[in-house]
Amino acid sequence: MIKFLDLQKINQQYQEEFQQKLKLVLDKGWFILGDEVKTFENNFADYCDAKHCIGVANGLDALVLIFKGYIQLGLLKKGDEIIVPANTYIASILAILQADLVPVLVEPDLETYNIDPDLIEAKISSKTKGILVVHLYGQLANMNKIIEIGYKYNLLMIEDAAQSHGLKFKGSHTRGFSFYPSKNFGALGDAGAITTNDDALAKVLFALRNYGSEEKYHNEFIGINSRLDELQAAFLNVKLPHLHSENGIRRSIAKRYLSEIKNVRIKLPSWDLSDNHVFHLFVVRTADREALQAYLKQNNIETVIHYPIPPHKQKAFANWNSLSFPITEKIHKEVLSLPMSPVMTMDEVDYVIKILNQY
Ligand SMILES: Cc1ncc(COP(=O)(O)O)c(C=O)c1O
Repeated sequence: MIKFLDLQKINQQYQEEFQQKLKLVLDKGWFILGDEVKTFENNFADYCDAKHCIGVANGLDALVLIFKGYIQLGLLKKGDEIIVPANTYIASILAILQADLVPVLVEPDLETYNIDPDLIEAKISSKTKGILVVHLYGQLANMNKIIEIGYKYNLLMIEDAAQSHGLKFKGSHTRGFSFYPSKNFGALGDAGAITTNDDALAKVLFALRNYGSEEKYHNEFIGINSRLDELQAAFLNVKLPHLHSENGIRRSIAKRYLSEIKNVRIKLPSWDLSDNHVFHLFVVRTADREALQAYLKQNNIETVIHYPIPPHKQKAFANWNSLSFPITEKIHKEVLSLPMSPVMTMDEVDYVIKILNQY
């Protein structure tokens, strides 16, 4: 069976170093916000060319905290509207809601799956105060156009980078990361981080993630407990030096899929192979997805659907269920994610391509 993502194999590469780190942390006996978190924050900030990195408990909290940070700084207030792609993982939208802000959904571009910048302006009102850009599946959104709109309307620009670790986009923007185990850069449990160049925001965020406290038992803000776990930071410190080369393997697989899958029944995305993509997922479209998925399964190829139900059709958002986002809905009906990981062999890639071309 060709696995969609062999997490065991990915992490077994680093097993010895993980065990050494576990021993180190155990020996030190310091489990919350210790040296490993500090080291990780410094190294990940460097890796992202950001001034600050704030380690948090998961990717959802990273985004919620960014919004809460801006509220604390007086740059956002309850009820402000935030533009967000209709085609995203639900966490992007939940983050906006959890900060008492209002998500305004915008359709994606069918070819890239990312927010369509040409549709943003029509959704901007006097209450719009920010854009949450999502680099879905690892593909950089059309930032030049989005930033232009942001400047024009004086909007905060926040990036959901949960699926795009290693994108070398030189913006000065504030990003939320998830290190959920299956991400390009995954921990051995839940973990997340925020990067930013904004000194004032960073200062607030370091406190907000820790009960609103910078100095123990002195609480400046109404914060939460969302600290990056010391052990997870230790494991991430082991993996960070390998992220670049792992993304390189993903890119070489994507390059082969893009040039060698030739089947009229399988629609490949219009993705570029430059540094603007880290290929977290490789997502194709097909009219009869169930048939393709079953065929691949018969041929021992595991696939996953990202995602089967669009956010606005989820039960949790009952008041949105009657809204119509045809492109988003089409994507959710047709997409299928092919095996993609840094431990896939080229023989496996050959096989997947051959089977797809025979379909
Ligand atoms: C686009 C996107 N945003 C946010 C998140 C939330 O991350 P986490 O699961 O670490 O909370 C995820 C991943 O789960 C995601 O894919």
